[in-house]
Amino acid sequence: MSEKLYIFDTTLRDGEQVPGCQLNTLEKIEIAKALDELGVDVIEMGFPVSSPGDFNSIVEITKIITRPTLCALTRAVEKDIDVAADALHFAKHKRIHTGIGTSQYHITHKFNSNQDDILERAIACVKYAKKYVEDVEFYAEDAGRTENEYLARVVEAVIAAGATVVNIPDTTGYCMPEEYGAKIRFLIENVKNIHKAVIATHCHNDLGMATANSISGILNGARQVEGTINGIGERAGNTALEEIVMAVKCRKDLPVFTEVVTPKIYRASRLVSTLMRMPVQPNKAIVGRNAFAHSSGIHQDGVLKNRESYEIINPVDVGINESSIVLTARSGRHALSHHLERIGFKLSSEALDDAYRKFLKLADRKKDISDEDLRVIVGVGQSEQQRRVKLKYLQVVCGKSSIPMATVQLNIDGEICTSTAAGSGPVDAAFNAIRQLVHRKVTLEEYLVQVVTRGSDDIGKVHVQIENQSNTYYGFSANTDVVTASAEAFIDAISKIV
Ligand code: KIV
Ligand code: ZN
Repeated sequence: MSEKLYIFDTTLRDGEQVPGCQLNTLEKIEIAKALDELGVDVIEMGFPVSSPGDFNSIVEITKIITRPTLCALTRAVEKDIDVAADALHFAKHKRIHTGIGTSQYHITHKFNSNQDDILERAIACVKYAKKYVEDVEFYAEDAGRTENEYLARVVEAVIAAGATVVNIPDTTGYCMPEEYGAKIRFLIENVKNIHKAVIATHCHNDLGMATANSISGILNGARQVEGTINGIGERAGNTALEEIVMAVKCRKDLPVFTEVVTPKIYRASRLVSTLMRMPVQPNKAIVGRNAFAHSSGIHQDGVLKNRESYEIINPVDVGINESSIVLTARSGRHALSHHLERIGFKLSSEALDDAYRKFLKLADRKKDISDEDLRVIVGVGQSEQQRRVKLKYLQVVCGKSSIPMATVQLNIDGEICTSTAAGSGPVDAAFNAIRQLVHRKVTLEEYLVQVVTRGSDDIGKVHVQIENQSNTYYGFSANTDVVTASAEAFIDAISKIV
């Protein structure tokens, strides 16, 4: 019988340790709300003793979020635990996550200590935390490189001291899946009070094994998985929770189920990416822009005949409207006719042959074929030069101690219109000015700048993804001036809104 797998999210703690990803209290609350809606079981909100800002965010989250268990991290230090208990004062379901390093690296170099002393400190921190809360999770930091016999002694002792959950972190992402699974199995088989606690995996991704190691942990008896949305976290990151959740949903042979509301995954991923300013790589499993995009002719044909030919997950199950058949030079007739039908053209077989020839010619020159291009191909609509919205003029004013302002002139259907707007930076100001002119409710979902080489005079490639009335549109441009490239990419995306 399938058992419940507890999903422990540490986006706001381990995820937030990434340089440049720091969040303010309001942003943390917004992410906590999304995690609550997503249905995770535990939200680790931060490390309260680390800063007054972290402490305050935790307090504010506990006043709003009531369903999941709310957790705060500490070291095996009484002061940390006092502060965590204080921060958790308003939490309905509270947990203190305390622990200490157990590998020889930590014992010798970090603590200048020995195994027996560390064991005593592990027991003491759990007992101390138990004075404040019933639910105490213990972590054996660097358990991945801790010898199994000693780890088993520590785990048995902290469970006897009252730990309800024992976390076995592969802190440095060193383990191989079989090795990590064997470690969990060793604990299950050799710790005599193990049934009194839940064993948790907490895997880092330094060798790209985080998801595989967590799954191996599950197969060997772990019943809590810790990770973050989009896999963000220290160095190469943590286990990506969306991957675990969808692996469990997709692979019915795994012995567990989760209570995550999977259609909320994509929204949570976008929110974390935007607020933490961490773009998601396009080929990222489950949530990447290309995760459900099919571009080769053979695959497109297969998916159009039966989605399951090339898709193991229904995109709707993760909150993405449908799989996208992207038209490129490698697309076949079937994909072209599918797109044409979607925008209202049902062609005879000869007309389709003709359209396909024109399409291939255009696709050789142009990466991204839009609906407007298809209309041109079938003889209705405008050519790219006649695109409805074109950037005529852009001027930005920005710099230290000045409010970023942009003046934009667009040619919309032959009519010239001008607007000026302020923003948080020159790109934001340009986007705001464009928005004022196109009168569309457009939400920026993704904004990614890549430079081709490394000089300051490089060409910047800008990718933009926008949302309008639940549809997603992609825009691209390249220019040595990144602000101009950004404005053009934004307009490129907007032009695709039919
Ligand atoms: O990776 C790790 O060991 C941790 C612990 C503090 C739980 O994040
Ligand atoms: Zn960690």
